[in-house]
Amino acid sequence: MQNEDLQESMRKSYDRLFINNEKWIEARTKEDPEYFHKLAKGQTPQYLFIGCSDSRVPANEITGTDAGEMFVHRNIANLVVNTDVNMLSVVQYSVEVLNVKHIIVCGHYGCGGIREAMQNRSNGLIDKWLRNIKDVIRLHKDELDHIHDDDLRYRRLVELNVKEQVMNLMKTSFIQKNISEYEFPQIHGWVYDISNGKIVDLEVNIEDEFPGYGDVYKIDID
Ligand code: CO
Repeated sequence: MQNEDLQESMRKSYDRLFINNEKWIEARTKEDPEYFHKLAKGQTPQYLFIGCSDSRVPANEITGTDAGEMFVHRNIANLVVNTDVNMLSVVQYSVEVLNVKHIIVCGHYGCGGIREAMQNRSNGLIDKWLRNIKDVIRLHKDELDHIHDDDLRYRRLVELNVKEQVMNLMKTSFIQKNISEYEFPQIHGWVYDISNGKIVDLEVNIEDEFPGYGDVYKIDID
């Protein structure tokens, strides 16, 4: 009996998506009868958003952007890992084909991935992904160790992780090449606060925050 109830509630929560879809199509078409016709013609997004998979960080909703305006890649803890062919393909396509003008790495306070990386627990496969965050902890260990309040340390790591991912984008050769040739995309680091909906631009300045970056990671563009 209990299992039947579960099956019934699962079916309802699934069916709801299609009911909502019909309502959405109706509302959109009422607003603009050409809406879907226009979208079908193609996309010219100006932004690439790299955010966390967390269900509370919907890229379009928090930025008030519509379909067609934002290219999106999401993974646990908004990481830019240079062996991640998925993420790199998204970045290359958005930079070289879509010509996005802004790339945004958006972390968020209350990130479960960041919290887990601060622990020493074993979680199986995901440990390999979270290890990238542990590298951020190691790089900023001095600063983090001096923050005695657990919550403040956690919030700071969320910010530092975003900065490191911005840095990781800047290490990428095709991004360096594009910036050197066209002066875009601009790379931004954001933190989204789930508790009040606010986006904070961390105003990451690569040259200031990562002295010596150019000596190490800069690729000669010919
Ligand atoms: Co998260």
